[in-house]
Amino acid sequence: MSRRTNLALLVLLAVAFMTGWLAFASGTAAGRWSLVVHALGGFAILALLPWKSIVARRGMRRSRPGHWASITLAVLVLASLLGGLLHSTGLLRWWGAYTAMELHVGAAIAAVPFAIWHVVARHVRPRRFDLSRRNLLRGGALVAAAGAGYAASELAVRVTGLAGAGRRFTGSYEMGSFDPELMPVSSWMFDAIPVIDAERWRLRLVMPSGTRELTYAAIQDFDDRLQCVLDCTGGFWSEQVWSGVLLSRLLGDHSSASSVRVASHTGYDRRFPLDDLPRLLLATRMGGRPLSPDHGAPARLVAPDRRGFWWVKWVTAIELDTLPHWWQSPFPLQ
Ligand code: HEM
Ligand code: HEM
Repeated sequence: MSRRTNLALLVLLAVAFMTGWLAFASGTAAGRWSLVVHALGGFAILALLPWKSIVARRGMRRSRPGHWASITLAVLVLASLLGGLLHSTGLLRWWGAYTAMELHVGAAIAAVPFAIWHVVARHVRPRRFDLSRRNLLRGGALVAAAGAGYAASELAVRVTGLAGAGRRFTGSYEMGSFDPELMPVSSWMFDAIPVIDAERWRLRLVMPSGTRELTYAAIQDFDDRLQCVLDCTGGFWSEQVWSGVLLSRLLGDHSSASSVRVASHTGYDRRFPLDDLPRLLLATRMGGRPLSPDHGAPARLVAPDRRGFWWVKWVTAIELDTLPHWWQSPFPLQ
């Protein structure tokens, strides 16, 4: 019983972790499946908790080093499950300055080293009969139980009218649409907000034909507009009208390049395929008003159908180059 429980947990933790990141990588409805699998993985872990608590209690009675690390793992996995459920139901979406989604993902990331240690120190050797017909049937029953739990929670959210009923296909909640003042501020991990003097700010354009520098005055009169949704991995979305200049217009001939890199004053950057150029906007205004520093002033990128971490703030350089667009970490490392 304990082998099966532990091995099932190993598979489910891996599935939940990977599908969580897959969901973060997707900004369109086509990526919804990853969150359905993710939720099933999470509910299956919940369903195994009664069995795992028997295994854990027995393990605690043995005298061997590292119990504290197993307990830390348990606390972090439970915190992540709690954060995920609080977010998805809408019961509690903010926890001080943090969103329940940030608690959810933060606890899951913090659990990784403990999970690796746990699996190595308390290793379970898979055996051929783990894939027996009976065990596969048990696996099927577990997935069915997870599906029932997931369906019941989605139904309960709708029947009770909890906020979770209104979330987008990414799981995010609407906030401050068409009202820039109310749009939450968020940045990927640890980027601090710089205050940049627009008079002294320069935009460096690196193109095959050479490098140019533009002033704020040179771009502020452009009025290309995009109305689109910023869907933040922190768990909210907001629709705004953005104005500025489309990168296709700014960069002109790009036939000899392979990708475009957009870099921030803080060193943060993202690389895009050239096909995106006509839909990428360097925005100086949101809702007709100049951007505030926390939303990326003097200029930020607007990248429709991509999650918020692609929307580089405080842009200082746009570079065409010959590296492929996928030549970057799938998620920013700073
Ligand atoms: C949800 C994730 C997990 C949590 C929260 C968790 C937690 C715990 C705790 C608190 C203990 C008892 C303390 C100890 O032995 O140090 C334990 C024991 C154990 N765990 Fe886990 N564990 C998890 C997943 C896993 C996985 C994925 C495996 C292996 C594939 C595993 C294998 C074991 C083994 C073999 C024991 C010892 C059981 C015994 O001595 O009878 N656990 N676990
Ligand atoms: C220990 C690993 C993880 C577990 C066990 C887990 C489990 C869960 C659970 C139970 C939910 C609630 C599902 C629902 O009721 O709809 C959830 C939601 C969510 N999780 Fe995770 N998760 C883990 C890691 C991650 C990671 C690493 C990410 C992202 C990088 C992530 C992203 C999300 C998102 C976006 C939601 C919201 C889904 C929605 O509201 O529809 N999760 N997770």
